[in-house]
Amino acid sequence: MLLKKIILILEALLMTAFVMPEEKPMKKNADTIRLNSGFNMRRTQERASRVFDKQKLADTIQLNSGFNMPVLGLGTWTLTGETCENAVYAALKSGYRLIDTAKYYGNEREVGNAIRRAIKDGICKREEIFVTTKLVPWSNNPDLDIDDSLKQLGLSYIDLCLLHQHGSASGDDAVYKAMIRAVKSGKIRSIGISNFYTEKTVSHFINDFEIPPAVIQNENHLKYQNNSLRDWAAKKGIYIESYYPFGGRGHTKEHFQNETVLEIARTHGKSAAQIIVRWHLQSGYIAIPGSSNPSHIAENFDVWDFELTVNEMKKLNALDTGQRYENW
Ligand SMILES: NC(=O)c1ccc[n+]([C@@H]2O[C@H](COP(=O)([O-])OP(=O)(O)OC[C@H]3O[C@@H](n4cnc5c(N)ncnc54)[C@H](OP(=O)(O)O)[C@@H]3O)[C@@H](O)[C@H]2O)c1
Repeated sequence: MLLKKIILILEALLMTAFVMPEEKPMKKNADTIRLNSGFNMRRTQERASRVFDKQKLADTIQLNSGFNMPVLGLGTWTLTGETCENAVYAALKSGYRLIDTAKYYGNEREVGNAIRRAIKDGICKREEIFVTTKLVPWSNNPDLDIDDSLKQLGLSYIDLCLLHQHGSASGDDAVYKAMIRAVKSGKIRSIGISNFYTEKTVSHFINDFEIPPAVIQNENHLKYQNNSLRDWAAKKGIYIESYYPFGGRGHTKEHFQNETVLEIARTHGKSAAQIIVRWHLQSGYIAIPGSSNPSHIAENFDVWDFELTVNEMKKLNALDTGQRYENW
């Protein structure tokens, strides 16, 4: 009897020793971005501390639509014809999986050609690529515009479609409603807005429509850091995507030749462009540097093997002037 009792006690002790500790539920934290690599990337600059994995393909974030979006992509504004096709192909070859275009750029066909060429050459599969396009707010028929973008791109769905900019209240709403219809019919996966800089203007799209924006694509760079919008949007589950990450054409020198940027670049043995890309990513932004030059394209993507320190981030944050270059 005593022996049986001792065996039972021993069994109970063994059970508790080998029971796996219960996995603690992840604390929902608006300050972190869940990457598909399983890591959380800190959104707030003060606490930016994550070293990205050395990997060929960019990390992705999960949008409020449930779809994943790469955090680094190629911008194609001003790229046309063969230059555009070659740049997009070079980007996909370098490991990019996010390509940003717009109906207004007139290059959706070239973007589509490059994607098809890359798929044919075994560089990537359609489902690995994330294509963003944008609709102008002055369209008479945004539903037809969406169909036309699909045709130009040669794709069966668009990953992210943005209202390109504010036009008129009724025009903006008409485009946004058309994008929602297209989500329902499977033509678009995620929707967003672009060139909306205040909580008030963004709130309209959150409060008055059944699908909120997943992404706000805005002018955003070292000289114009709209942190308050980023932090507010993060709490609403919306990401900010930086356009003009290097200041845009005509202003890149101010960024690339900035002494603070150059000093940090020397410390890491990296280029000014790479430091700036890291600043965007560690700040919690999605970034889409534009380039027609395959070596710049590769350079801008080679940013996964180093990390800016909290102090370096603070120095870069201090370059903010609060002034945008554009006024649209
Ligand atoms: N939603 C909107 O209203 C809106 C507005 C503007 C832009 N965008 C999007 O945002 C993207 C980015 O903006 P952006 O292209 O206008 O400006 P950007 O990315 O700030 O700067 C592009 C300029 O930087 C140069 N560059 C790129 N990488 C470089 C490197 N490693 N070294 C030296 N120079 C380098 C490019 O020249 P090279 O060609 O010689 O590399 C080009 O002149 C656009 O392409 C577009 O997709 C959206």
